[in-house]
Amino acid sequence: MPKVLIATEKPFAKEAVQRIKSEFDAAGYQQVWLENYTDPAELRKAAADAEAMIVRSDIVDEALFNAAPKLKIVVRAGAGYDNIDLSAATAHNVVVMNTPGQNSNAVAELALGLMIYMARGKFNGKSGTELAGKKLALFGFGNVGRRLAKMAQGLDMEVYAYDPYISSEIMTQEGVTPLNKVEDIFTTGDYISLHIPATAETKKSINWDLLSLVKNHCILVNTARKEVIDEDALIKVLQEKSKFRYVSDIAPDCSEKLLEEFAERVFWTPKKMGAQTEEANTNAGVAAARQIIAFFEKGDTTFQVNK
Ligand code: 3PG
Repeated sequence: MPKVLIATEKPFAKEAVQRIKSEFDAAGYQQVWLENYTDPAELRKAAADAEAMIVRSDIVDEALFNAAPKLKIVVRAGAGYDNIDLSAATAHNVVVMNTPGQNSNAVAELALGLMIYMARGKFNGKSGTELAGKKLALFGFGNVGRRLAKMAQGLDMEVYAYDPYISSEIMTQEGVTPLNKVEDIFTTGDYISLHIPATAETKKSINWDLLSLVKNHCILVNTARKEVIDEDALIKVLQEKSKFRYVSDIAPDCSEKLLEEFAERVFWTPKKMGAQTEEANTNAGVAAARQIIAFFEKGDTTFQVNK
């Protein structure tokens, strides 16, 4: 029976671990659990005889594939797979999958919580502002963007979206106003929320051309990836727009400078927390386990991302 390595530098919740174990136990698969590791060498060692792996944001690179000659499948329990070297995987004949949608509610709830936290001045006791009646512009209308749109509509926000890969009909069906071009996100939003992956095309794409367009009081929410932000442009917009605020689920590389100069207008979580709920861990982890079992038992490659 296949041997599966579940490698999570940031572990799943206990409930999720139990549920994933039950899936593999029922299928008779052997499991090795590696949690809280700090050195990639530990991951390479644990992967030496694994035929399948489940990971979260763990780095899966050429060195790992070289160290794991029996590996046939890696499932990223989550949405973004920028942590996995897809060409190296393909070159080693390893199938890579993600589990789209399984943790999106958790990320959307965090984005909403961060919006409220910043609107209320990080709970500093002074008068803040409300979300009702304000414009939320979403960059990306995938699973997270759609969940957040629903929540924001429940709070009487006006929701707008831009996504070059999603039709405007789908947005309209969801009661969201489609935006025609990326610039419109930045001129429209009182709140702007990013829901784009980190790819060659999107890295540093939130640049000065876009950030220079924002309203002075705009709150930019980033629960996507820090790499999509051009940090020089972020510093500049904080300098030039006195009420602009930046809130993120990922510490930027320039965090020290931002804290020195703009402490009241920036915030990020200590560790990436968007998908850190029992529910999201369970949904994504169980989906990953089932996808591995379906791959070995039926050759099912649904959700393969390196086709
Ligand atoms: C994702 O891409 O699914 C999220 O960013 C969650 O990542 P995590 O599993 O590392 O928390």
